[in-house]
Amino acid sequence: MLIDLKQQPADALLALIKLHNADPRADKIDLGVGVYRTGQGETPVFGAIKAAEKKLVETQDSKAYLGPEGDMGFVEALMPYVFGKDSPSMGGRIEGMQTPGGTGSLRLALAMVKRAGYKRLIVGKPSWPNHNQICADLGLEVLEFNHARADGTTDMDAIRTALADAGEADAVLLHGCCHNPTGIDYSNAEWDEIAGLLAERKVLPVIDLAYQGLGRGMEEDAYGVRRVLAAVPEAMVCYSCDKNFGLYRDRVGALYAMVADPADLAKVMSNAHALARANWSQPPDHGGAAVRLILEDEALTAQWLDELDQMRDRMRQVRARLAEAGKTGGVDLTPIGIQNGLFSIIPFTPEQVQAMRSEHGIYFAGSGRINVAGLTMGNIDKFIAAVADVTG
Ligand code: LMR
Repeated sequence: MLIDLKQQPADALLALIKLHNADPRADKIDLGVGVYRTGQGETPVFGAIKAAEKKLVETQDSKAYLGPEGDMGFVEALMPYVFGKDSPSMGGRIEGMQTPGGTGSLRLALAMVKRAGYKRLIVGKPSWPNHNQICADLGLEVLEFNHARADGTTDMDAIRTALADAGEADAVLLHGCCHNPTGIDYSNAEWDEIAGLLAERKVLPVIDLAYQGLGRGMEEDAYGVRRVLAAVPEAMVCYSCDKNFGLYRDRVGALYAMVADPADLAKVMSNAHALARANWSQPPDHGGAAVRLILEDEALTAQWLDELDQMRDRMRQVRARLAEAGKTGGVDLTPIGIQNGLFSIIPFTPEQVQAMRSEHGIYFAGSGRINVAGLTMGNIDKFIAAVADVTG
């Protein structure tokens, strides 16, 4: 019976939205769920998106179904940004489809991993908690390795060992850029080595690229994806436009599969289409169509890239200011300066996380993950003082 179902805890990250909203203090700070905020603490719709939406309303003449693959104009328009302008489909070896956000893409990719008979998914820890939740729901065995060291650098020995023990029956999930939750990314040289190991061990790479453009730049953030795809016969890339186009609630993503022989692509993608049909049938159209209109228009593309540059610059400034604070109470904020994207982890104890909430009205994940975009030049000093207070 339905009433035999057990009570489930609310998703810890999404629960932070409500916790923060319920706090009456005017100077509370929300460093929880990963949305970008301006220096004024707002998450406005991109100007380029507003313009594209206006155009969409004026020109769209039908809302009839498009099929499980969604808007293929959108899917293909993104490809030069992800895979490079020179050969966006790598000679016909890559095809994609639209998905409901990055989560829809991950769900589909991991269901494909399962369906293709892979036994294990190798994942660096900590990772975005939903990675493990999706695997648990699919019944996919997860093998974890340590992603980063305490000093804020990647733990290359751990991934070397994990891949040395892996083989053809394994897939590995990698964060393309702006690692969530640590902000600690592989350097280009490290990606070179990882690409070689993946090819040697014949492990299937699944790359989660949810923050392209928010780390070091659109091209720079694609280095890992391109390097890995150049080295291996098969791979999948899970893409999200929710952050780099600010479309969070519109759920805009894409799944790309690469195979060795273009002749096999239709067969492989037919599985992704069938799985999508059995899950959500067809992706929501609006956000993807707006992205397509931007990417089809040179001026709108330039406007979008400019807006993205401003976001990245602001996050760099926040990171620089935190790094400048250096040793603060019992923690060192210096490594945050060289990390990428929306997130970094501060090694708070669970009690310190609670104290930050109850004593200072500062909300972030229980893992100690902060969304640096929640900090502004107006609240950052309060944050640093609170860190010193609870960890000192
Ligand atoms: C996050 O990690 O905060 C974001 O990816 C939002 C989410 O869905 O969890």
